[in-house]
Amino acid sequence: MIAGLSHVSIAVPNLEAAIEILSRNFGLVAGEIRTNREQGVRLVYIDLGNAKLELMEPINPESPIAKFLERNPRGGIHHFSLAADNFDAAIESITTKGVSLLGTKGQQNIDGGPIAFIHPKDFLGSLVELEGH
Ligand code: CO
Repeated sequence: MIAGLSHVSIAVPNLEAAIEILSRNFGLVAGEIRTNREQGVRLVYIDLGNAKLELMEPINPESPIAKFLERNPRGGIHHFSLAADNFDAAIESITTKGVSLLGTKGQQNIDGGPIAFIHPKDFLGSLVELEGH
């Protein structure tokens, strides 16, 4: 069901500054900056080989990421994302076992792939995104 780690997602107050810091100090190379209006963020991926970093900056005050940054002004890990082999079957399996999902059905990542967020109460206090691939 779970095929691996897709990405670790970090909320940042300034995307360009975050990219510069990770480039200068760690030699990490970011892809192009894109906007996910549905999720209310500008974001960029950094390919680590076996998984990615996802950096997110809110584009409006209603974004859940804006609220996260109010509590964590310098930024921080917001969620991590697990890849699912068969997304629909995985969702069916976990919800049947009583796992709660957050937000609306039919959410998509920036590439149009299906995603769902698992309530932290059902994953050891961590916000986890399940991603079809
Ligand atoms: Co994510």
